[in-house]
Amino acid sequence: MTVYRESQSQPQTEAAHVSRETPPAPYPDGTAGAAADVLFPTSQHSPQQTPEESSVWTPIAEEAERATRVLHPESLRLPRPLRRRVMTVANQKGGVGKTTTTVNLAAALALHGLRTLVIDLDPQGNASTALGVEHRSGTPSVYEVLLGELSLADAAAVSNQSRNLLCVPATIDLAGSEIELVSMVARESRLKEAITGEVLDRIDADYVFIDCPPSLGLLTVNAMVAAQEVLIPIQCEYYALEGLSQLLRNIELVQSHLNPALMISTILLTMYDGRTKLADQVTSEVRGHFGDLVLRTVIPRSVKVSEAPGYGQTVLTYDPGSRGAMSYLDAAREVAQRGAQEETS
Ligand SMILES: Nc1ncnc2c1ncn2[C@@H]1O[C@H](COP(=O)(O)OP(=O)(O)OP(=O)(O)O)[C@@H](O)[C@H]1O
Ligand SMILES: [Mg+2]
Repeated sequence: MTVYRESQSQPQTEAAHVSRETPPAPYPDGTAGAAADVLFPTSQHSPQQTPEESSVWTPIAEEAERATRVLHPESLRLPRPLRRRVMTVANQKGGVGKTTTTVNLAAALALHGLRTLVIDLDPQGNASTALGVEHRSGTPSVYEVLLGELSLADAAAVSNQSRNLLCVPATIDLAGSEIELVSMVARESRLKEAITGEVLDRIDADYVFIDCPPSLGLLTVNAMVAAQEVLIPIQCEYYALEGLSQLLRNIELVQSHLNPALMISTILLTMYDGRTKLADQVTSEVRGHFGDLVLRTVIPRSVKVSEAPGYGQTVLTYDPGSRGAMSYLDAAREVAQRGAQEETS
């Protein structure tokens, strides 16, 4: 298991150096590839360190390692999936890290060369905010897409995090849609109808992530009908498993009535706090139940992760040297490696 504890992280002074003194370029993975390589090294370094190694890890060593990666940009490319993957990020429990996982995994994949689309299906619009995408009322959004008034490709905006990363934003207009959808024809498959192969070809998407609201209403059902995979973030806390059986039951219902191809492919443990025994108990309980579906990487509770959206960023660009960024990068690598090896549908 790869667990990054904040207590093992680099000194705050260094993290501060990374985040404040080297502000990210608008497109860190763009033509100025070298800059991207400096900002987004592969994770064969500090996350794998032993505590002994981390105690001698210095900003100079880090810079040297990053500089080495500038010379080997190919080491930063993640494998393309065997087939395009559409993943719904769902858990009706609120605040478990659905949005944080969506935007950071998407950014990590995009920054490493994979075309990634995020569909913000939560009226709160948190994913749109974190990806720096306009989502004021009136902005072309997923709402018009669900109504069939706008093509998904036309609603997709390029994120400031990477030109490989697109986002269909959610505006506050989406808030009434759960009710509006009830009377619509094919109300459960409005999103599926919009995510056609042709549209995704236009976007040239390798990965599509759908960020769900904290409910099992029609928006979440639309997301499950439109996807082949469900990614469930589980917070390493008491009550974490409460409500999970209801989620699993709903997934089964969608499988048997609306989308037989749907499968739970990925579980990610989030907000792990290594100081508590409880976090380990939840981790082993989830692993015992879901086995290999659970990513080896566990996302630590990290202030940097929670600060990033406030700056319209993911932690990958807000503080690329932080444990939060490194762990999401590792999780993205696991996701990408599975996608490149396995049949995903
Ligand atoms: N690894 C982390 N470390 C610290 N804070 C985190 C971490 N992951 C998420 N958070 C914070 O926890 C809160 C909830 O996270 P997030 O919004 O991703 O959850 P969610 O499941 O999408 O919530 P909702 O159900 O409301 O959509 C946010 O304030 C977020 O910044
Ligand atoms: Mg959310």
